[in-house]
Amino acid sequence: MKLFLDTANIDEIRTAASWGVVDGVTTNPSLVAKEGKKFIDVLNEITKIVNGPVSAEVVSVKAEDMIPEGRTLAKLHKNIYVKVPMTTEGLKACKQLSSEGIRVNMTLVFSSMQALLCAKVGAAFVSPFIGRLDDHSQTGMEIIAEIVKIYRNYSYKTEVLVASVRHPVHVKEAAMLGADIATIPFSVMEKLPTHPLTDLGLDKFLKDWQKVPKA
Ligand code: E4P
Repeated sequence: MKLFLDTANIDEIRTAASWGVVDGVTTNPSLVAKEGKKFIDVLNEITKIVNGPVSAEVVSVKAEDMIPEGRTLAKLHKNIYVKVPMTTEGLKACKQLSSEGIRVNMTLVFSSMQALLCAKVGAAFVSPFIGRLDDHSQTGMEIIAEIVKIYRNYSYKTEVLVASVRHPVHVKEAAMLGADIATIPFSVMEKLPTHPLTDLGLDKFLKDWQKVPKA
């Protein structure tokens, strides 16, 4: 499974990328706003650090505006994927941009039927928002299972990108269900490599090593 970082923070991206585990990055307007930098500058920095898909979201709401905005974003770097919201206007924009060879990540997806439509218009990625469904008492991971099954039934090429991840169990469940990608906040990413038994075990090994006669 590919792991993306869900952030626009350059320090976080640099840190996780140095571990060798970051396959791509997703941003959204809220994440970019937190950084207080121009969007283009953020995208330029990210594409220099990570050699993989970097999602950049359009902020237009009409297809006729999303399409030129998406083209402009896609021209910035070969790894830019254009993020488009899951609306009927977004479907139209995705169909057009995909037909031009521009990779589209359909975002704000909350049902498997929305995901079916995303595949039909040629989206490269579909982003179901799991945590936000959990927040509303609906088990988000259930729609991941549905989408993975539906896509496999019809051999759709659209990759399932599990988004709105809140904790490591979401990542584990996404992997168990065969999702293609999970996009993860840095706060969750930094929990994945750690285990208290690893720390205790290493501590004991190093202490015991002191008792081994040297030369
Ligand atoms: C996906 O690409 C989004 O940026 C993100 O996962 C949204 O997550 P949130 O619900 O934590 O804002």
